Amino acid sequence: MDTYNVLLLGNGGREHAIAWKLNQSEKLGEFYIAPGNPGTAVYGKNVDLPLSDFDSILSYIREKKIELVVVGPEAPLVDGIADFLKSHDVPVFGPSKKASMLEGSKEFAKDFMTKYNIPTADYAVFDSLDFDDALKFIQLRDSYPVVLKADGLAAGKGVFICQSEDEVKQRLLSIKKDKTLSEAASRLVVEEFLEGEEASVFVISDGHTSHVLHNAQDHKRAGDGDTGLNTGGMGAYSPTPVISEDLLEQVNTTIINPTITGMSLEESEYVGILYVGLMITADGPKVIEYNCRFGDPECQVILPSLENDLLELFVATTEQRLDEKTINIDNKYRCCVVLASQGYPLEYEKGKEISGFDNVDDEAIIFHAGTAEKDGKIVSNGGRVMNVVGSGNTLREAIDHAYKNVEYITFDNKYFRTDIGRKGLNRTG
Ligand code: AMP
Ligand code: GLY
Repeated sequence: MDTYNVLLLGNGGREHAIAWKLNQSEKLGEFYIAPGNPGTAVYGKNVDLPLSDFDSILSYIREKKIELVVVGPEAPLVDGIADFLKSHDVPVFGPSKKASMLEGSKEFAKDFMTKYNIPTADYAVFDSLDFDDALKFIQLRDSYPVVLKADGLAAGKGVFICQSEDEVKQRLLSIKKDKTLSEAASRLVVEEFLEGEEASVFVISDGHTSHVLHNAQDHKRAGDGDTGLNTGGMGAYSPTPVISEDLLEQVNTTIINPTITGMSLEESEYVGILYVGLMITADGPKVIEYNCRFGDPECQVILPSLENDLLELFVATTEQRLDEKTINIDNKYRCCVVLASQGYPLEYEKGKEISGFDNVDDEAIIFHAGTAEKDGKIVSNGGRVMNVVGSGNTLREAIDHAYKNVEYITFDNKYFRTDIGRKGLNRTG
């Protein structure tokens, strides 16, 4: 049997989940993760390669005879790692630089959706030099809330929902002052505020054929009841009752198919995972954002449901053979609670010893996110530290199993939301 030597790029909870799932494949040969975390080290060798240094990555690929590269996070994709590796004949799972612009440039994504009639919020785009024009436009429009979005990648910090003209003025000033943000906001998208419930659908595409893997609902705000600051995601559950079969059909017809076909027509075939962030409005589903990768923590609830061999799916994608595959999902629910460091997404302490791993039972899986190994101990090393994924035959069971196991994992300054999945329960009872 053919096996594949694989290099996985990334170091979050998402990459631990991908590594865990790839490790179940009989086709996995040697396995390397760059840079990885103590969770991924259980399945392969963690390697300290900077993800921005494509030449070093290529040398390592040659040295270790790596046959497939899987890219977890967006930054290397938006920087063009897939194009670079392909130009050196290395098979890579992840979209090209141009296709990644669906996430890398909100202006590109909005213009693309307009061109292909894909439902999304109304918008206008301004150059950072013309913030006065943006303000005039918002004043004339006179409808609040209004959404301001930095065009480029801003690590989740580039979106502002403003309730009033005063808030818009303050935000425009603060964007100008913030050095990193002003770079991402060299173009600014002003967008209609959409009312509804958010959910996301994850699609695997080889450029021609695409399949929906599954759906999930994230919890982006730091505090219970969706209060507090926006974060990378404090928890997720899957599947979500917001996405009924009929709605998924509608999402396929009005959003997913035109997106994959449209990208082909633009001569930038979409190869990899397409994360479609939706607002389910009274007028039907509309796209809030595209991402060019799995969500984190959504990946942690989706991959445990997937019955397919993930490595086979990745290889079939790079060989444009997804038409041979059907996706099989179990009929269980999953709930992921993120254990964070108190203070996240602002300031927080690191280096706190984590314990209790041995107490975790069969009803949950633990994924590492911001952790490190120090003197033989696992310590916290980031804002989002650990993920506890409970499973069950109902959403309530999955939530209970997650929270029971959350108690077993301990570290100083542990913080988590206590209401992950409750939105789904409110719908299903
Ligand atoms: P984005 O990075 O575009 O996904 O935006 C981050 C978050 O801001 C989303 O997950 C939504 O909660 C919110 N958001 C973005 N755009 C809109 C919109 N047009 N209407 C309402 N909420 C939005
Ligand atoms: N959890 C949101 C994201 O991965 O973008």
